[in-house]
Amino acid sequence: PAHPYTRGLVRSYPAICRAKDLQGIPGMMSHGLAGCPFHDRCTQRIEICKTEVPLLEEVRGRLVACHRGGIVPLLEVRELSVSFGSYPALSGVDLTLYEGETLAVVGESGSGKTTLSKAIMGLCQEESGEIFLEGERVEKRDASFYSRVQMVFQNPKESVSHRMTVLDAVLEPLNVMRRGSPEERVARAKQVLRQAELPVNDRFLAKYPHQLSGGEVQRVAIARALALRPKLLIADEPTSALDPSVQAKILKLLLNLQERMGLGILLVTHDIAVARKVSDRIVVLLKGRIVEEGATDEILIGAGHPYTQTLIESASERLDPGEGGGSLELAPARSRIEIKI
Ligand SMILES: Nc1ncnc2c1ncn2[C@@H]1O[C@H](COP(=O)(O)OP(=O)(O)O)[C@@H](O)[C@H]1O
Ligand code: SF4
Ligand SMILES: [Mg+2]
Repeated sequence: PAHPYTRGLVRSYPAICRAKDLQGIPGMMSHGLAGCPFHDRCTQRIEICKTEVPLLEEVRGRLVACHRGGIVPLLEVRELSVSFGSYPALSGVDLTLYEGETLAVVGESGSGKTTLSKAIMGLCQEESGEIFLEGERVEKRDASFYSRVQMVFQNPKESVSHRMTVLDAVLEPLNVMRRGSPEERVARAKQVLRQAELPVNDRFLAKYPHQLSGGEVQRVAIARALALRPKLLIADEPTSALDPSVQAKILKLLLNLQERMGLGILLVTHDIAVARKVSDRIVVLLKGRIVEEGATDEILIGAGHPYTQTLIESASERLDPGEGGGSLELAPARSRIEIKI
């Protein structure tokens, strides 16, 4: 889909062959006559959307009625390379993440996923290439960049300081960026903790990370990352340290936030089964290079690169109850081909 409303409809429908569905569209249908009929519910609206009806125009070979030419790119990475000494951890990586979508970066351990996340955040020392955020080239990572892009790190227990209480951890980005008065900052911290489905009573706010469960610390890390209302969240293996029931809750939470706020999510995972459930598109990383990129359904149904197929097969083996030890007849990706035929 090229139009945000079409994407909302596609995502809402329960489809037998699709992975990420039942997500919904925020808000209610507007009955106003002015402006774009979708503007009340659109997460990428601009001023003109409220007042002028967009005309149906050709955009990249499609007809789309949208003042912004359809769903807009949020993050563009061009020819990004990172080396550690003589070791090329990332080589010429190109990717585009659109407003309000989840792009999964999938690859085995050591393929460069964390390096990619950190390089986008400006946390790698030697990088080359270009990064564009909302169409503008990122020259330096300043306050404006970090208010729009935030990251949840691979290990929440290490990324949330053990000397900070829950409230302090979530207040910190608001204090650093001097957002509002002290009272407004506390109100925002509580609001974002509630969005992350955490309690906001004094007892919980005064807890330290070691007094919380793994799932709770991860929610605090997510609340902290969302406090500044970023447009893009980079989540590096946000659930790999959690048990499956907590993983499910955290992934659903991210999808809900995406639906309500139009949050773009770069989801880093070694697990293609997780990517299948929550991503719109997938890029596959192997030894620091992208070897495949495409819509999640297309990649899961017919992976073009043998490495992607290996990732799918190893995830399928985990799901396979045993017969034939990962036989492809039982693998979800292949059975979906049969359904299609
Ligand atoms: N700070 C570093 N110094 C040297 N090598 C590193 C550093 N960080 C990562 N690497 C190497 O870069 C490669 C990619 O690492 P990483 O991005 O952490 O992979 P992933 O997150 O996919 O597991 C690995 O071979 C790793 O050993
Ligand atoms: S960006 Fe504006 S014109 Fe395009 S769908 Fe959203 S509200 Fe409508
Ligand atoms: Mg990693």
